[in-house]
Amino acid sequence: SIPVPSVKEIASQPLLAVPHRYLRDADGDYPTAGDSSLQVPVLDMARLLDPQFHEFELQKLHDACKNWGIFQLTGHEVCDESVKSMHRKTEEFFDLSPEVKKLYAQKSGSLEGYGQAFVISEDQKLEWCDMIFLKAIPVHARKLEFWPEQQPHQFREALHAYSHDMRKIASSIIGFIAMALGLDAKTLSKAFEGGSYDVRMNCYPPCPEPERVIGISSHADISGITLLTDCGDIPGLQVLKDGQWVFIEPITNSIVVNVGIIMEVVSNGIYKAPYHRAAVNRKKDRFSIVTFCYPDGKFEIKPSEQLINSESVALYKSLTYDEYMQSFYERTKLSDDGIPFID
Ligand code: SIN
Ligand code: FE2
Repeated sequence: SIPVPSVKEIASQPLLAVPHRYLRDADGDYPTAGDSSLQVPVLDMARLLDPQFHEFELQKLHDACKNWGIFQLTGHEVCDESVKSMHRKTEEFFDLSPEVKKLYAQKSGSLEGYGQAFVISEDQKLEWCDMIFLKAIPVHARKLEFWPEQQPHQFREALHAYSHDMRKIASSIIGFIAMALGLDAKTLSKAFEGGSYDVRMNCYPPCPEPERVIGISSHADISGITLLTDCGDIPGLQVLKDGQWVFIEPITNSIVVNVGIIMEVVSNGIYKAPYHRAAVNRKKDRFSIVTFCYPDGKFEIKPSEQLINSESVALYKSLTYDEYMQSFYERTKLSDDGIPFID
């Protein structure tokens, strides 16, 4: 990545106008608030686990993944304390002085560390967001030089606990997704139990002209699934549904789950990785924590055989996880959006 100014530093100065590199007037990728009154589906994990409600809730999960590709999950068993603690550490991190944060700055050519995502050219439009991106699981993949130490106090411990909680819930959600598709739940769950987990912590500072900038521009995630927790009740995340941008109103203690491209492929397109983006606001910092969940390195990313028959042909290529990640960053073998369609 090319180093760019911290948005938090820009926003901490008295700002009359937003610097032009952040303005989206030309490409149109900015929020038109209140596009839609549609509501993202809410799923209850406790009901998925309860024999009495399981069937009903599983159908709801299937519809949510099929029609939206995103839902809010309540009733899960992720430790509230570990989530709250990670939220605190995230806010504390972005509140550190620029000098301290820069100790963990991204190095050129890599996403890991503190900075901004994918800044590859000097004239590229910028996102109104500071972030720190860390590989958390497997433990041997960690690059501790990017992990804040001492300040915030016990940041590393908090991220360790948080990422393990996210792995647990991800492999359980994947099991239910497999069931909803009629696939072998054990095999898929296992692939995610042994998978990789990357965590991205975001800070969206207040912006004097929120309708002219974007926090994270429109994209689909390359993950298997993505888990997002909002550190508060400020809406920002939006999903594209039938051509309309829909806000996801934070629900306390819930986790936003979205289908990534890997699961789109496995489902042979029955489920779609939705386009989403983050809007910013005029008044307050918004923080979010996003965990990208991937299957283990040996997992073959291809439409599941159980879903292929004389009536439904494979729509996607077959790639190993390693091939897939490499093609994603090199933009080979994939469509512009990172989807391995068969041409
Ligand atoms: C994203 O997951 O791409 C958006 C993150 C957010 O809502 O903060
Ligand atoms: Fe995303």
